[in-house]
Amino acid sequence: MKALSITLLGVITLSAATKLTVADFGKIPSGDPVHIYTLRNQHGLEARITTYGGTIVSLKAPDRNGVTADIVLGFDSLAGYLDNPSPYFGAIVGRYANRIGHAQFKLSGVVHKLAANNGENTLHGGLHGFNQAVWTSRPLPDGGVELSYLSKDGEENFPGNLRVTVTYHLSDSNQLQIDYVATTDKVTVLNLTNHSYFNLKGAGEGDILGHLVTLNAERYTPVDAGLIPTGELRDVNGTPFDFRKATPIGARIEANDQQLKLGKGYDHNWVLKGSGKTLRLAARVEEPASGRVLEVLTTEPGVQFYTGNFLDGSIHGKGRKVYVLRAGFCLETQHFPDSPNKPAFPSTVLRPGQQFHSTTVFRFATSVRSKK
Ligand code: GLA
Repeated sequence: MKALSITLLGVITLSAATKLTVADFGKIPSGDPVHIYTLRNQHGLEARITTYGGTIVSLKAPDRNGVTADIVLGFDSLAGYLDNPSPYFGAIVGRYANRIGHAQFKLSGVVHKLAANNGENTLHGGLHGFNQAVWTSRPLPDGGVELSYLSKDGEENFPGNLRVTVTYHLSDSNQLQIDYVATTDKVTVLNLTNHSYFNLKGAGEGDILGHLVTLNAERYTPVDAGLIPTGELRDVNGTPFDFRKATPIGARIEANDQQLKLGKGYDHNWVLKGSGKTLRLAARVEEPASGRVLEVLTTEPGVQFYTGNFLDGSIHGKGRKVYVLRAGFCLETQHFPDSPNKPAFPSTVLRPGQQFHSTTVFRFATSVRSKK
């Protein structure tokens, strides 16, 4: 497939609802061109997605008074993403999102050694993950955008040519739906997610500690000092990890809890309720002042709730705004970290002839102001 030529495409109205436009977003150092798509629905919701890393660059959503803000962290231009890969702002993460312990795994009797890019472990696919790839793109007749990437056999030492297709659709019911499909020609492992950092007040408008979070999970996977799951599925009851009822992120984040200390805050995988492959609610987040609400639905078994604990004010994002500690939170829908080395966890193995499919939906709404 050839990259889309922007001269062929200005504005296409693909349905009465969603409007799709595409524009130039610069070039990577090798000279490959990068594009940016804008999807807009009838209710003022707008998502911009670039072919560099499949990254969600901006997401504009109205508050309860109809005032729109950009609610994801990121950069105004491609240079920002090229210069700052490590927070993974908004990107598609792969081939294996999250961590693989000791930077290796055994599959069908063969040990695969990976790059140790996070202490002694592998994080988010290694040195050059899917977040740094330029994806092939095409607009879809139904108003969506399709991105595809061939991760070659041996890339970052993962086995098999992995063909990945990710589609984004923005609906008039205020849902941004992301579908992931993948096939391989050799047995391999994969874990795909989107790494958006949300701040429902607006990106760069301080921290997210006042946001109210609900997670549809009774257990989480505690970690060791390298943030690798120990294998235990621990009950959240009576711990700062209990988000079964809406709770401000900041209410317990500094509690005297060993797991919170290891994560420098929340940076853990929750075991979502409900089994199998059905799309169900994983999380709901409400920002009380603006009334903006984000709901996350997924077919994945887990979600990494990460509270931006590695942000430290050194990054200036869109509009030169400073991203302070905990300026955003991520809800990375996923299979559990280190699954290739944890046979009891849901399997991340993909075999030739199988098709991997997973769906995550970011749904936007507003709440009514609560009475004082
Ligand atoms: C994930 C990890 C975090 C951190 C971020 C990127 O959420 O779990 O520890 O590495 O990605 O900064």
